[in-house]
Amino acid sequence: MKLTHEQQAMLDSKQGLATHKAMQILATLGRIYGAAEMLPVSSVQISGVSYDNLGEAGLAWLAEMAAGGGRVKVLTTLNPAGMDIENWQALGISAEFAEAQLRVIAAFEQMGVVTTCSCTPYLFGNLPEFGQHIAWAESSAVCYANSVLGARTNREGGPSALAAALTGFTPAYGYHLDKQRKPTLTVEVTAKVCGTHYFGALGKAIGDRLQGKGQVAYVRGVTSANLEELKSFCASLATYGGAALFHMQGVTPESTLFEAPEETIRIDGNHLALAEQQLNTARPEEVDFVSLGCPHLSLREVARIAQLLNGRQVKKEFWITTSRPVKKLADQAGYSQVIEAAGAKFAVDTCCVVAPIKGRFHAMLSDSAKACYYAQAKNQFKVRMLPFDEVVQEACQ
Ligand code: F3S
Repeated sequence: MKLTHEQQAMLDSKQGLATHKAMQILATLGRIYGAAEMLPVSSVQISGVSYDNLGEAGLAWLAEMAAGGGRVKVLTTLNPAGMDIENWQALGISAEFAEAQLRVIAAFEQMGVVTTCSCTPYLFGNLPEFGQHIAWAESSAVCYANSVLGARTNREGGPSALAAALTGFTPAYGYHLDKQRKPTLTVEVTAKVCGTHYFGALGKAIGDRLQGKGQVAYVRGVTSANLEELKSFCASLATYGGAALFHMQGVTPESTLFEAPEETIRIDGNHLALAEQQLNTARPEEVDFVSLGCPHLSLREVARIAQLLNGRQVKKEFWITTSRPVKKLADQAGYSQVIEAAGAKFAVDTCCVVAPIKGRFHAMLSDSAKACYYAQAKNQFKVRMLPFDEVVQEACQ
């Protein structure tokens, strides 16, 4: 791979130990994937922030990069951590876990990372433009950035995303290249899809058919989708199909650049009903945990929860997961007070998947197909998936 003077200097340890190690990671990846050169990135989003996933070994590596002079060269934000950074006690997090998680955050802070721990950085300032090269790691955000925003990123791991942040570069392969962004399969949707829960079911129905083969779906038949529906669809398609990019006719920006491929699969109402059925393994009376906010909630969604909870009381542990900036706006608008008066809890900076809650609950209710997948696979919870408004209603019963 061809390196510029600047990149070679980084590799030759002329800019400190951390930058050297970061460039080593990127050069190795570039060699493995046959990249001809490095591309400058304008934005980075790092995953693997929860101490629950990182453990001591991951934390030691981050501390070493920070101590080795690592400083980010571009706007870099963080994925959710294992706890609410300011309010972890209220969520039942142990002091031992909190201490380790705070050391993780401190290491990122030392490197100049903006420590807004969220999987929806595009809702509060880390918003790449069409065609920009970026290095993002959170799978739902990768799918959103590539497909909805038209930015260009591979599905990075935590270390390669940090390496891109510390150098400002990423190897030119995969979804950075025009030829890899071409759709390979047409998905003809004949079912009517509306709301985050149905878009999640659609993502699962399509994802199950893609089976992680790296296919780029060209979705037809979905005539409109709002921001919240698209973030739900992206999270689900990435989870069940391993997809990092899709095009949706009439909805996503690159869909006009391509013809629909000949190979076609159809998704009808039965496929959606089956996806829903598979994500409803718990009976209503078994649910002891409710969570909304996978991916992290937009302000509009928080406002809707406040409207639905106004004057009511929740009967189960109910987590509202969102980013710190959205929570601050919700505070200003008075939504947080209404939600907390109803007994629901904000779980800011974290989510029901990366927080260490295994063994604490039996069955989870959510509108999110992605949250249901990990609740079963990671935490061994039974799950129940309902439309957004119905989740709130059922939390009060
Ligand atoms: Fe975000 Fe956690 Fe879901 S990181 S996409 S809320 S699993």
